[in-house]
Amino acid sequence: MKVSVVVNGAGHVVDCHPSTLLVHLLREELQLTGTHVGCDTSSCGACTVILDGAAVKSCTVLAGQADGREIETVEGLGPDGRLGPLQRAFAEHFALQCGFCTSGFLMAATALLRENPEPSESEVRKALEGNLCRCTGYQHIVDAVLSDPTGSGQP
Ligand code: FES
Ligand code: FES
Repeated sequence: MKVSVVVNGAGHVVDCHPSTLLVHLLREELQLTGTHVGCDTSSCGACTVILDGAAVKSCTVLAGQADGREIETVEGLGPDGRLGPLQRAFAEHFALQCGFCTSGFLMAATALLRENPEPSESEVRKALEGNLCRCTGYQHIVDAVLSDPTGSGQP
């Protein structure tokens, strides 16, 4: 089947099998490997992207369900090859170690900050509860999101 998507502002038409998951379309067809696969069972959040403005776990979405829709991945947070403000905040607050979970946290936090530019700590924790990190203990991630210098999660 043919799937037409706009990813980080660029249009693509991809020929894929009907059972292809969105995460695999992004990683294998479009080489956007910043979106990670940690579990494939909707548990870890490493595959989180923004689909029509909402954070979704892209291992739970068929590529066909994304047809005609707009997707943002971590690559879109720093379109000129530099880190965006939220990414810098993660670095400055030591909010990553191995980094495997980071793109998922960044996308979930970006969706939150667009909707709620001044979240409370409990709102940040609630928005990120579907994302797992085995390294940081979470507090640094929460601190980074609370400090987002743009208040919007935007580059
Ligand atoms: S890979 Fe999608 S939630 Fe873990
Ligand atoms: S930084 Fe290693 S899993 Fe989160």
